[in-house]
Amino acid sequence: MPSPSSVRVALAAALLCLPAGCGRAPPQQQPGNDFDPAQFVQGRPRLDVPYVATDLEVVDAMLGLARVRPGDYVIDLGSGDGRILIAAARSNGARGLGVDIDPARIRESNDNARAAGVAGRVAFRRQDLFATPLAEADVLTLYLLPEVNLRLRPRILAEMRPGTRVVSHDFDMGDWRWDQRQRVGSAIIYLWTVPARVAGRWTLSAGGRTYPLMLVQTYQRLAGTAGTARLEQAELTGDRIRFRANLGEGRRTFEGRVNGDTIEGNDWRATR
Ligand SMILES: C[S@@+](CC[C@H](N)C(=O)[O-])C[C@H]1O[C@@H](n2cnc3c(N)ncnc32)[C@H](O)[C@@H]1O
Repeated sequence: MPSPSSVRVALAAALLCLPAGCGRAPPQQQPGNDFDPAQFVQGRPRLDVPYVATDLEVVDAMLGLARVRPGDYVIDLGSGDGRILIAAARSNGARGLGVDIDPARIRESNDNARAAGVAGRVAFRRQDLFATPLAEADVLTLYLLPEVNLRLRPRILAEMRPGTRVVSHDFDMGDWRWDQRQRVGSAIIYLWTVPARVAGRWTLSAGGRTYPLMLVQTYQRLAGTAGTARLEQAELTGDRIRFRANLGEGRRTFEGRVNGDTIEGNDWRATR
């Protein structure tokens, strides 16, 4: 057993690179790994959000709330040590991309993914979250800050497909009201479903006749008129639309799916 003083000497030698600590060659960098010496010269990256890891219990709850399933492509913006994506791949069979501005986090995430046996299904990239394309995601996970969520909100609504899920740890999206909220210990997690963009004038065809359909949209909240009738109980969940209206033959329910400039129902359709 080495004496405490000899351990201290060896540590000091290693840190100061005294002859006693420089006997071993530095580890060789393998081609293709993500070590970039330039990062150490440039100094620390500027973080828009400090690094705080989500508790594993909260990670599980986020993945459950977003109903992450096999084949889902999950993007974690500001991915820290990679734990959300690694759990999504291991426990839910998802694939994914994590981006973090801090190269140390990316190295740590790649090591963690390899150790967890999911390196083939998740990728971690050093990238600014504000420059990360979102259109590919089925699920977006966030543990950021309120103002960062607000900066991302217009891009989430514009770039992400209707029906994709967004889950955020601790911070909401301002006046875009969450669809579900859950407390997990001292944390709160929020879920949104990205709504289709339906605002504007449509022509509704039903029973061989056409009617003007006017949709007024605030995020997933919907109001408007069909013919001269006000829409009642109007709902928009991703690409699914539902409302009640009386077009002259009694009140009935319209249910359909939005696909760009068309809404298809069983016995009705609308076009823009
Ligand atoms: C609160 S931590 C969340 C980590 C992880 N998602 C989790 O929940 O455990 C926020 C992360 O965002 C990263 N970050 C801060 N600013 C960033 C930016 N502009 N682009 C990408 N990542 C950023 C930080 O390095 C940090 O790892």
